[in-house]
Amino acid sequence: MRAFSNIKKLEMSHEGFGSKIGAIAAAAGSAVGLGNIWRFPYVTGENGGAAFLLVYIAFTLIIALPVLMSEFAIGRTTGKPVTDAFRSLAPKGKWYLIGFSGVVCAFVILSFYNVVAGWTLYYTYLSITGALNNLSPAEVTQTFNNTLSDPATCIIWMLVMMGMTGYVVARGVSEGIEKYSKILMPILLVLIILICVRSLSLDTENKGIKFLLSPDFSKLTPRALVEALGQAFFSLSLGMGTMTTYGAYISKKQNLAKCATSVAIIDFMVAFLAGLMIFPCAFAFGVNPGSGPGLVFETLPNVFNQMPMGQVMAIGFFTLLVVAAVTSSISILEVLASYFMTKLNIGRKRATVFSILLSIGFGIGCSVFPTMLDFFDNLSANILLPLGAFFIILFVPLKVGPERMRNEMEAHGGKFTLFPCYYFLAKYIVPWAILFIFISKILPWLGINAF
Ligand code: PFF
Repeated sequence: MRAFSNIKKLEMSHEGFGSKIGAIAAAAGSAVGLGNIWRFPYVTGENGGAAFLLVYIAFTLIIALPVLMSEFAIGRTTGKPVTDAFRSLAPKGKWYLIGFSGVVCAFVILSFYNVVAGWTLYYTYLSITGALNNLSPAEVTQTFNNTLSDPATCIIWMLVMMGMTGYVVARGVSEGIEKYSKILMPILLVLIILICVRSLSLDTENKGIKFLLSPDFSKLTPRALVEALGQAFFSLSLGMGTMTTYGAYISKKQNLAKCATSVAIIDFMVAFLAGLMIFPCAFAFGVNPGSGPGLVFETLPNVFNQMPMGQVMAIGFFTLLVVAAVTSSISILEVLASYFMTKLNIGRKRATVFSILLSIGFGIGCSVFPTMLDFFDNLSANILLPLGAFFIILFVPLKVGPERMRNEMEAHGGKFTLFPCYYFLAKYIVPWAILFIFISKILPWLGINAF
């Protein structure tokens, strides 16, 4: 993350992340966030569980991972953030519009992401005050419904989150946040594992684990395919250039394929553990796994109430989830801030304030109307990110070519033996798979029932 604020320095000195772990940790900081712990369980719950999980794993490997490798390589080969990377590789065409669509998408995501992050911060506050202690499952659900139906509360906490994100980006102190998050994220992982253990022990009939691990393919709908693809892109921060910008900071000595694979594995593990934490708890306390975006908030307080030191666990969990949300949120805001810095020729602080003010307008809308939040969530993950990823992956064979791609991926970081496999997927499979899944989503909107 430090790299974002050091872009000029980087271009001049070719300085990158000193260590492999630095590059991976920064990209993982963007990838791991509410998408894994809030979004993955609720989308999996709405789409029937295990069969959806399998499709999600397949799409991550076959579609998202090649896109991640491509974004890293395009960023590193140009040494530029998204808005300029595509223009410098293809100065004549309209490919620079990929950067522009990333900016639109960053607005949409930032607006609703901080509303959900605001709920998390509010739950941290509720945990500290003890307001979540000893509630019955019905009261836990009621607490979430009360939160949603109180726009003033949602707006205030959303503003605090926007303020925190803006402060970090405006001051260019992402580096500091990264340093702390390298210590804090493993602690979050430990807490999640402890909660998983308790949650699994409460689900005496093992319904949660069956829901997550024993697939029923009859539940797979075309909508589930779209949602699995959207979740894979959202979770790995793909399709809007965030990872292209990160690529610019990865040292030439590193093997990009290995970096990308490590980020994808970390990201998947966190999402999977979140599923293992949520579903047994949902079944143990009678919460419908398909109950939507409130799932995490309607289930976890029940487990905390049944754990030793439950209140401390709750405070720790929600606080660290806020930190995870901030490290993702700053990577979204950076896309906007760096765009306005170059487009309007203004400084970092002004560009950040401008971006935040625009997003706050939509953020208030999402706080007042939960349907608008759903719409933005859907629009970004299921339409804008896949569309962005489609053009990014088309760019590889059309404008970069196998030789340059291979040189970039291997650089001094050792051989990438599976390169032919990557390139085959990038050229022949990924764009058409995205297009097919995308069209299957659009057709019903146009009143055509293809399935
Ligand atoms: N990947 C982040 C998460 O899972 O919470 C969300 C995100 C960050 C999406 C950055 C897109 C992005 F560019």
